Amino acid sequence: MKKSYEQFVLRQELLKKQYDKAYLEKQHKRGKLTARERILLLFDEGTFEETDAYVLPGEASFGKTVKAYGDGVITGFGKVNGRLVCAYAQDFNILGGSLGSMHASKIAKVQDLALKTGSPIVGLIDSGGARIQEGISSLTGYAEIFKRNVLSSGVIPQISVIMGPAAGGAVYSPALTDFIFMTADTSYMFVTGPNVVKEVLNEAVSTEDLGGASVHGTKSGIADFVYNDGENAILGVKKLLSYLPSSNLEEAPQIRSEDIANRTEELLRNIVPDDADKPYNVKDIIEMIVDDEDYFEIAENYAMNIVTAFARMDGRVVGIVANQPKVMAGTLDIDSSVKAARFINVCDAFNIPIVTLQDVPGFMPGTQQEHGGIIRHGAKLLYAYTYATVPKITIILRKAYGGAYIVMNSKGIGGDFVFAWPTAEIAVMGPDGAIAILYRKELEESEDPIALKKKLTAQYREEVANPYIADEKGYIDEVIDPAQTRVKIINCLHALERKMELRPKRKHGNLPL
Ligand code: HXC
Repeated sequence: MKKSYEQFVLRQELLKKQYDKAYLEKQHKRGKLTARERILLLFDEGTFEETDAYVLPGEASFGKTVKAYGDGVITGFGKVNGRLVCAYAQDFNILGGSLGSMHASKIAKVQDLALKTGSPIVGLIDSGGARIQEGISSLTGYAEIFKRNVLSSGVIPQISVIMGPAAGGAVYSPALTDFIFMTADTSYMFVTGPNVVKEVLNEAVSTEDLGGASVHGTKSGIADFVYNDGENAILGVKKLLSYLPSSNLEEAPQIRSEDIANRTEELLRNIVPDDADKPYNVKDIIEMIVDDEDYFEIAENYAMNIVTAFARMDGRVVGIVANQPKVMAGTLDIDSSVKAARFINVCDAFNIPIVTLQDVPGFMPGTQQEHGGIIRHGAKLLYAYTYATVPKITIILRKAYGGAYIVMNSKGIGGDFVFAWPTAEIAVMGPDGAIAILYRKELEESEDPIALKKKLTAQYREEVANPYIADEKGYIDEVIDPAQTRVKIINCLHALERKMELRPKRKHGNLPL
């Protein structure tokens, strides 16, 4: 064998040795897959090309250096569902997956590749954070990654999958991406860990209670998806990618199914209860109108008073935003406003039409919401809907009251098509509030206030809140037969396929942050 070739083979053998049985067991004992196993699960078989596999760690001044090839992160590209995707996977087995200068530059290079090839990037994160012994070089490495996260935002889809620790400033790379996945029991994210919390606030809290998947999937809303284990999280990533275009210059892939476009659904006529105060599950409606009853929910267990989901209609991807009457009567509060606004921004950035199902009694009243800034947070939703230039279609199912009616993609703020079911009630406020203000004196003086209120409520519904008034004044496009909902939406989506809407020239708007 030629001498130069000998060295080539030797390096290959050393790299293989690095991933021996002991290496595998170390990570499996933690209940986690190795970085390489994760990468292989993500990419279509035989398509992954690794980059910088032989990079060695940068200089460290505080000992504890391991001469490991790859410097604790696998980077590269390949095909997912047949389309180019770039990825990196941090390797907790090497220096705790900590981020040193070379580790960071490998990630930055693959981020650059994703941006210039217009392909999504997936980060599989399992890391002790900035590599302590590399000091400022590690911190600068993070800064380089954050910068690329921001520059790629709205250009290519960026997905973070937290599969182990993500602590300190390291959480900000995922936070800058479009979607965050977490694995239950094996991942956590926090800015400061339990030890610091104890020291500063004298508050004892476990890692899980501070920043585990259960917290971020339900309370903070940081995690858009929570899966029980790494395998299922990666399958979830593949499914999510199937709903996204490769970049903002493309459309999401269309997948035609057997489900015909002009399918009517008579069951929809009876789904909204006659009693306006009775809840129902808006997900039943979503299921009946989308292709193959199949939709993919985002942040399923967070701010459940609003549902955000991807689905397909006549093969084309749509983003669905739906008030959920089953939870808090579908009222808009801070969390649901921000959840929906974020989702609308993603849809708009990536050319995905938005279908809104509206049944909203209003914004949530009370000091907690007002002091928490519902004014500013509600404005985020209003801004996101108004600013979005993708096709926007609304179906008013039942309540459409006050400011919340306007915010949920009314025609006035730019909804392209707004339809109402015969059960719709469109008004400044619900009958209770309206009657209390307009007929307070009469009710106080009445001998039978209950009967009077009942009569006034019926009269209000008929004379003020009924959808035919809105239809006749042209504020909505039509009151439709609920059975025809799918057909109407699909026809409008086709009509809007080449929709062009320009915005005034400016550096950027001032989104109410
Ligand atoms: C260098 C690190 C490391 C780090 C872990 N290791 N974190 N090496 N820099 N940041 C090494 C450990 O020394 C150990 O090496 C191996 O990784 C595994 O770590 P263990 O502690 O044995 O594992 P475990 O008990 O599972 O605990 C994991 C951990 C803990 C909770 C992540 O290691 C930890 O608290 N690490 C520090 C986390 C942190 O505070 N990082 C800085 C965050 S601030 P050996 O040789 O023993 O196997 C930050 C700033 C970013 O990242 C700023 C951006 C602007």
